[in-house]
Amino acid sequence: MDDLKAKYLGQIADAQDEDALEAIRLAAVGKKGEVALKMRELGKMTPEERQTVGPALNALKDEINSALAAKKAALADAALDERLRTEWLDVTLPTRPQRQGSLHPISQASEELTAIFAELGFSVAEGSRIETDWYNFDALNIPGHHPARAEMDTFYMHRAEGDNRPPHVLRTHTSPVQIQSMEKMGAPLRVICPGGVYRADYDQTHTPMFHQVEGLALDKDISMANLKWVLEEFVKSFFEVDDVELRFRASHFPFTEPSAEVDIRCSWDNGQLKIGEGDDWMEILGSGMVHPKVIAAGGIDPDVYQGFAFGIGIDRLAMLKYGIPDLRAFFDSDLRWLRHYGFSCLDVPALHGGLSR
Ligand code: DAH
Repeated sequence: MDDLKAKYLGQIADAQDEDALEAIRLAAVGKKGEVALKMRELGKMTPEERQTVGPALNALKDEINSALAAKKAALADAALDERLRTEWLDVTLPTRPQRQGSLHPISQASEELTAIFAELGFSVAEGSRIETDWYNFDALNIPGHHPARAEMDTFYMHRAEGDNRPPHVLRTHTSPVQIQSMEKMGAPLRVICPGGVYRADYDQTHTPMFHQVEGLALDKDISMANLKWVLEEFVKSFFEVDDVELRFRASHFPFTEPSAEVDIRCSWDNGQLKIGEGDDWMEILGSGMVHPKVIAAGGIDPDVYQGFAFGIGIDRLAMLKYGIPDLRAFFDSDLRWLRHYGFSCLDVPALHGGLSR
């Protein structure tokens, strides 16, 4: 018995890990272990022998079990000590830089206005930036000799020598998408067409590439009053104010009759732009009742359908809303500028407003 005890306590003391301990446990005090075998021999013994050997075996079993438990705890402690010694964290290290994207103010403004017009029942159409002169001009009642062609400072894309078809142009406005929307969707129709447009022009309020959103609503009884209401609702919603003063000025566009330009009241104070107050006006859009020839060019009967159209400068809207004084900053500023105005992706109303587009 003492031999057994010495053997197993020695093995337990030497065990290096839990697997070794488990093997020892099975061999010593498991169901088929050595102590169990000895227990079975009790039956062959005399009652006197049994009285001393039985309790001794039980005591041995208890002793081995508690030695196993103690060793197991010691191994676990040692493992933890080892981990604490090797795995450590220097909390004084600087954090890793986080790459977080942000929206350009023009993207932000586009998302916002798209969400607003969606609530007013307008769907979205996007044309292409390279257009035929039919869609950019002729279909919009701007024939070849029309002075509006010269005024638009158009970028022409020259054809190969010998190709006498009219050149493609970089679209000078989003109005061509009016025609394409009529062709695709017919009437009645309510659509907005946001996107980039191009003109050879560069100063504080003009850049060669800028952004517009076109609006078009056609039905049997749409009037200029509907145009005014839609624009007022849009402007109030976009600038998040109860009242924004708009000024409708009689104007002329080949594709509308009558036509109006719309200005918004604002002030320039030390280079800071404020909307809704002051003595200045900033033109933000052109609009009018769609010319019958334009409706016909879109394949719709102008004797049955009529409606309004408008074209808004998105960059101007963003300048007004976010107080950006120089349009050129949109396109030639560095990352710090973008961060200053940058909007987190979560600020996009269309993303969390549940509007599907
Ligand atoms: N296409 C015009 C421009 O770029 C803007 C415009 C004016 C669009 C009147 C319209 C409109 O739809 O009705 O200057």
